Amino acid sequence: MTSQTLREARKYEEACEKLIGKEERPDFHLTPRAGWMNDPNGFSYYKGRYHLFYQYYPYEAKWGAMHWGHAVSSDLLHWEYLPCALAPDEVYDKDGCFSGSAVVLPDGRHLLMYTGVLREHQKRDIYREVQTQCLAVGDGIDYEKYEQNPVLDDRDLPEGGSRFDFRDPKMWKQADGTYACVVGNRPADGSGQVLLYTSADGFQWKFKSVLVTNCNRFGKMWECPDFFELDGKWVLMISPQDMLPKGFEYHNGNGTVCMIGDYDEVSGTFKETHDQAIDYGIDFYATQTILSPDGRRIMVGWMQNWDACGIRSPEAPWLGQVSLPRELSVKNGRLYQSPIRELDTMRCNKVEYTDVAVSGVVKLDGIRGRKLDMELTVRPGDMRELYQKFAVRFAQDDIYYTSLSFRPRESILKVDRKFSGSRRAIIHQRRSLVNTVEGALKLRIILDRFSVEVFVNDGEQVMSATMYTRQEADGISFFADGTARIDVVKYELQSNTP
Ligand code: FRU
Repeated sequence: MTSQTLREARKYEEACEKLIGKEERPDFHLTPRAGWMNDPNGFSYYKGRYHLFYQYYPYEAKWGAMHWGHAVSSDLLHWEYLPCALAPDEVYDKDGCFSGSAVVLPDGRHLLMYTGVLREHQKRDIYREVQTQCLAVGDGIDYEKYEQNPVLDDRDLPEGGSRFDFRDPKMWKQADGTYACVVGNRPADGSGQVLLYTSADGFQWKFKSVLVTNCNRFGKMWECPDFFELDGKWVLMISPQDMLPKGFEYHNGNGTVCMIGDYDEVSGTFKETHDQAIDYGIDFYATQTILSPDGRRIMVGWMQNWDACGIRSPEAPWLGQVSLPRELSVKNGRLYQSPIRELDTMRCNKVEYTDVAVSGVVKLDGIRGRKLDMELTVRPGDMRELYQKFAVRFAQDDIYYTSLSFRPRESILKVDRKFSGSRRAIIHQRRSLVNTVEGALKLRIILDRFSVEVFVNDGEQVMSATMYTRQEADGISFFADGTARIDVVKYELQSNTP
């Protein structure tokens, strides 16, 4: 039975989608069918296609009562919208269906677990959101909320765990066919922790352990946990709120952290040996991963910074993009990311330059565009004298540009969208410490109309940023203070569907 709230959302989004031209959206990054999107949810492979849900408010390009939007794809690049999957229409979730995940049940049904939100009156005009974990079962289009919801509530919390910050369940199926899930929570010290729950059938859940506690090391509340094995290690991904920067790590306020370490399955505890930001750019939060049918660990995130949502006005046709899906690996104890290999099928019209000397500004014939994949290798032009600075500018015309600039002496790579057309005094720059040997640097830059994602040194680091520069600004130029030499391989990215 679909509720009135869900029917209204479905009707509204269908009408609204028709008003948004194809050119007004990115080509291969998922955006909300209408209005607002934040976290990717329910990332799963079901009935031969990838399903991606998302935090969704269809009625305006700003955060509101959360629904789950829904899209499917067979290559993780071309997305087809399906009707809105969940609406806040039950007593226990009437103030929002917050983030969650999906698994496939042995009987072929699709199981979603999400956070139900209910505002509770405290005193005078003060309300707080009580958060519980809820289920919905469906066929890939329509989902029925479970009659015994919520399946996890304050009775399932360890002592001191807050019932107001208890959200974002990420489930997975274990090797023995049972299920586990991690949920973000806030212990008595006010920072964050990740709780682990287990279930034999996906419906009855019980508390297993506190997987790991923050103890105020990484921000405050930990949102959107994900936990998986990769290359012989265990990886915990979290999105902490209210982070303090540490050197060149964690500059995003609400940031992302990847912890790599060891998991003791018997006690249900995790000990990290390494931590790093997942993305070193401006716009990235709330990751979710999937194990693809061919065994790749693929991650997506919300390519937006909570503090910079004012980059678009609520009257814009949409706000929020899902990042390009990235293949993950652990090498030398660090997280590596590379664009999903499916992207290679979109590459066309290769333009290549080898060993070009750059001193001052250089433009190269055929190197332009806003939907492209460009590999750029930079090295000193003269080994005796290191260049001071190298920069590549893109989304460029007479007025606008966004740039990546590199200072080899400091090993600092900077993304700067100050001149991308934003009229707001929000964060437009981010600097990252990168690895370089004698001024050499390797970048893979992916543009898709409204964003740039930069994979540094074969995926050692990634920097993502959105930019809403007018599309006519499609120039690219290179600059060096001193002399640098570059190799460039550029492809246009074209959809292979009509
Ligand atoms: C993270 C988050 C989640 C929550 C959702 C609400 O961006 O705050 O913790 O479930 O967004 O939309």
